[in-house]
Amino acid sequence: MTDTELRYAAMQVLKENDTGNFIKPAYRQYPHQWNWDAALIAIGLRTYDVPRARKEILSLLSGQWSDGMIPHILYPTGASDYFPIPDFWRTEGLPHGPAYPTSGLTQPPVLATAVRLIHKDATDKDASLAFVKEVYPKVLAWHRWFYAARDPEGTGLVAIIHPWESGMDNSTRWSEALSRIKLENVPSYQRKDFQHVREEERPSAQDYEYFMYLIGRYRDLQWEPEALYSKAPFLIQDVLLNAILARANTDLLMLGTEIGEPTTEIEGWLDKAREAFNERLWNHEEGLYFDYDLRAARPVQQNTCAALSPLYSGLPSSSQAQRLVDEHLSNPDEYAPGPNGQYYIPSTSKNSPLFEARRYWRGPVWININWFIIQGLRTYGYHDLADVITKQSLELVSKSGFVEYFDTRDGAPLGAEGFSWSAALTLDLLSELT
Ligand code: GLC
Repeated sequence: MTDTELRYAAMQVLKENDTGNFIKPAYRQYPHQWNWDAALIAIGLRTYDVPRARKEILSLLSGQWSDGMIPHILYPTGASDYFPIPDFWRTEGLPHGPAYPTSGLTQPPVLATAVRLIHKDATDKDASLAFVKEVYPKVLAWHRWFYAARDPEGTGLVAIIHPWESGMDNSTRWSEALSRIKLENVPSYQRKDFQHVREEERPSAQDYEYFMYLIGRYRDLQWEPEALYSKAPFLIQDVLLNAILARANTDLLMLGTEIGEPTTEIEGWLDKAREAFNERLWNHEEGLYFDYDLRAARPVQQNTCAALSPLYSGLPSSSQAQRLVDEHLSNPDEYAPGPNGQYYIPSTSKNSPLFEARRYWRGPVWININWFIIQGLRTYGYHDLADVITKQSLELVSKSGFVEYFDTRDGAPLGAEGFSWSAALTLDLLSELT
């Protein structure tokens, strides 16, 4: 496929998934609006339709809770054949809740970065500035919510209360913490995610039991932030989410400066995060960043793509970045092409005993992860490697289509077809090449 054909095909996917107000992550598998999907989709949309990119962001913000939280799934069009259905969450009528049904969890905050990228390249400068002024206080309110609700102790790192909040639902990073949970009174449920995708490519039955159990606990607590933080059986400072938040704070700081807003609060978040990444998340022996499990009071020593993701935040020193790249990302036993896999960047290190080549976030390559790491590599000056991963990502979507994830061994298509962020980020990667 030529670049022009690829660009056209990517735009077609977004068009087919477009409901008019928001773009579905995948036509059949994910028929509602998802949080980090929306931001990643908007990053792609801005390369050819800036007003549509803004609309995607405004739709996401329409689901914001009155306490500032932006939920991970929004159901503006009501129920579908997707599970969980809106009622499962029991978020309606909460005093701090949303205006229409949403989930009660959140997701990685790519939003501020999307807003900055949309604004940076916009040619209608006045409209763009008006857009930034409109959304800025809402994005800031979400970041404030993160620190108040998920870091009440002021460590500088925010915590997740459910694996779905990480966006990497069944990552090997969560297995140990989940296995400590005693399952009782799991709400009754019926999975619908095998309707369009093969079962062996989806999270295991055991993982689902934990996912449902946690939702049951939290809806009983009426999604009240203080109760959730103090009682959540799963409470982890996730490296990837914190890396995304740090990058988002850098972008918010730039936007705030441009529109004349005070920024010392955001600078404070960034200073604290830099320190906490070093003191709590960095593992000097391994040369990797690990999540921190607050309930077990210890790091989660799993080698996954998240351990490299601080590159995207810009927080590591150049020598820390060098260790991530030289010892891990470029290591064929872990993330680089070699005898056990041809494609960057498997979601779990290939030499991990928990690696599963076809199962969701436990091995396959995801285009958003490649995109985060490519941005990080460019920040630290690793342009050659960034180019290689860009070319490989484009090769994957050219040969296997815009699917949800790919087999690192041979690039085979996995998961849902017509996956929006695979298409949207292809558009962004192509625009960087030209
Ligand atoms: C899955 C993914 C999550 C994504 C959602 C919609 O739950 O794990 O990251 O946001 O699907 O695409």
